[in-house]
Amino acid sequence: MAAIAQSIFSPETAARFDHLVTLYPLKRSALVPMLLYAQDELGFVTEAAIQEIARRLDLFDLDVRNVLSYYSMLRTKPAGRYNVQVCTNISCMLRGGYEILDHCKAKLGIGHKGVTPDGMFSLEEVECIGACCWAPAIQVNYDFHDDLNLVKVDRILADYADGLGKDVK
Ligand code: FES
Repeated sequence: MAAIAQSIFSPETAARFDHLVTLYPLKRSALVPMLLYAQDELGFVTEAAIQEIARRLDLFDLDVRNVLSYYSMLRTKPAGRYNVQVCTNISCMLRGGYEILDHCKAKLGIGHKGVTPDGMFSLEEVECIGACCWAPAIQVNYDFHDDLNLVKVDRILADYADGLGKDVK
């Protein structure tokens, strides 16, 4: 494919995209991984990212938008520094997932897809995150926290707020 003259992405991500399109028989198969890498780098999938990814995959912007709107883990608006995802699927629901979600809503003062005014936390109710055996579970950015109760949730949120969370840099 022709090189993208001016990429909005870092050289590392642009090189990763160049490589991704060589891995699949159909270029569009690289769409979801590209969107995830774009989100990792930019914090959310911007208009410019949509346009560049469409160009790289010979798609219309609308094709990219359709996939983007389908997957709940992809965002078109900034999340908080710590994105708290609370699972309410069956295993977690039976073990207090909705209580944890309601507790997080009250504690953070935001609803589903909300962001705290200081940008520290965002909150999402999500489908199964693959930790059913240790339900109830939440995911904060890429870190899992399981076998939870409300006291543990309070401690986890406090640790992130204090810069002590698992993935705090
Ligand atoms: S149902 Fe919650 S992690 Fe699977």
